[in-house]
Amino acid sequence: MQIAPSILTADFTRLGEVLQEAIDEGIDWIHLDVMDGNWVINETITFGPAVVRSIRERVGPDIFLDCHLMITNAERTWKQYVEAGVDLIIAHIEAISDPWNLVSEIRRSGTMVGLVLNPETETEMVLPYLSELDLVLVMSVVPGKGGQSFMPEVEEKIRDFRAAIDEQISAGGRRTKLMIDGGIKAHNAAMVASWGVDVAVIGSGLINDRASIAENISEIRSK
Ligand code: DX5
Ligand code: ZN
Repeated sequence: MQIAPSILTADFTRLGEVLQEAIDEGIDWIHLDVMDGNWVINETITFGPAVVRSIRERVGPDIFLDCHLMITNAERTWKQYVEAGVDLIIAHIEAISDPWNLVSEIRRSGTMVGLVLNPETETEMVLPYLSELDLVLVMSVVPGKGGQSFMPEVEEKIRDFRAAIDEQISAGGRRTKLMIDGGIKAHNAAMVASWGVDVAVIGSGLINDRASIAENISEIRSK
């Protein structure tokens, strides 16, 4: 299972150094949490295209950047993040009015596309689009901030998507990646890996003031 750090809990005045520490530990996928102060529960604002552009310039072309859009106007503004240099746009199914149109527009731009579901959103909301998705993200916290507790009830949804993706692949279809995001730590990373997750977003479990990124990564990998 791949680890994709979320930078939400990083000291934003040291973002370049934090990213470099992760990359030095072999991380090659960074998860960028974009919040617009409107769509998420606690009206958090994180960062926009300008910071994403700086991150791309800092990490270079070989680090994979996904962009988790927790914003009300993703259908209008996703292009700004592609122009800022992200490799994958992940949009909330709950926040878009025409998923087919958005998925095909993003794909036509040459960028990878994913859809994300909140914990309370049913699998069936995203299954129809699965064959067109490079990634599906199952939230295991309610979006809005780092450091929340893992919601184990998402196990069933993860297993449903794992089965659907495996069936799709065995029929020669797209190798959609399965991602989980929220509350993943050293104590539960191996568990979600056993459920069939391909990529786990880890924020406060990786970037915190208790231990270094290197120590946190080795603890996670040692389980
Ligand atoms: C929450 C974000 C997550 C979060 C993960 O809205 O989408 O990516 O930053 O942070 P942890 O791992 O601390 O739950
Ligand atoms: Zn996220």
